[in-house]
Amino acid sequence: MSINPPSRIADYPIEDFFTARWSPRAFAMDTVSEQELLGLLEAARWAPSGLNAQPWRFVYSFRGEAAFDAILASLWEGNQVWAKNASALIAVVAKTTLIPPGADKEVPNPSYSFDAGAAWGYFAVQAHLRGWSSHAMGGFDAARAAEAIGMPDGYAMQAVVAIGKKGSVDALPEVLRKREVPSPRRQITDSAFRGKFAV
Ligand SMILES: Cc1cc2nc3c(=O)[nH]c(=O)nc-3n(C[C@H](O)[C@H](O)[C@H](O)COP(=O)(O)O)c2cc1C
Repeated sequence: MSINPPSRIADYPIEDFFTARWSPRAFAMDTVSEQELLGLLEAARWAPSGLNAQPWRFVYSFRGEAAFDAILASLWEGNQVWAKNASALIAVVAKTTLIPPGADKEVPNPSYSFDAGAAWGYFAVQAHLRGWSSHAMGGFDAARAAEAIGMPDGYAMQAVVAIGKKGSVDALPEVLRKREVPSPRRQITDSAFRGKFAV
């Protein structure tokens, strides 16, 4: 059982893994096998989605591969400095249209982003439960990332996710070392409202 830092104590009792998972930047130089990575993406596969359209797509590559370097190069510099040590990078992509049941042509899927987010969440939790750390990034050049993975029309880049084993903070640039701590959350009452939105 992991021990949560003070910033990660839940107000209401929940399973420990929710608060024990966090997004580090210091990755050790471990490698992850394709089978192991697919075993984590399997959890994402079981996320719920509107009309069960499963709009998520994952394009993964491993450190040392040209495809890894290509997606790494699409990240903002501030992400590249730490993401370069990840064991794998995963571009999370979503299909923006679907064919509704009984129809024969594609229509816009209003929940593609919501659904891809749910899938990433499942992946992150499964990775944590297997001793891996993951870190999502929105800080990238979307056009460059799309080109790096050969993304076809009709899809939208959602995030790039780094995965690896937690490493030593000493390997991080000074400015990031200070930020290498699990983050707190605002109160549940600031996010959950009964009946009407409260600002
Ligand atoms: C969609 C998305 C985009 C993010 N973009 C970045 C990013 O570009 N760089 C970064 O260092 N962290 C990024 N993060 C990580 C968040 O900052 C982090 O998840 C948040 O502070 C909560 O911390 P925790 O995951 O450790 O609980 C991103 C997370 C998500 C879900």
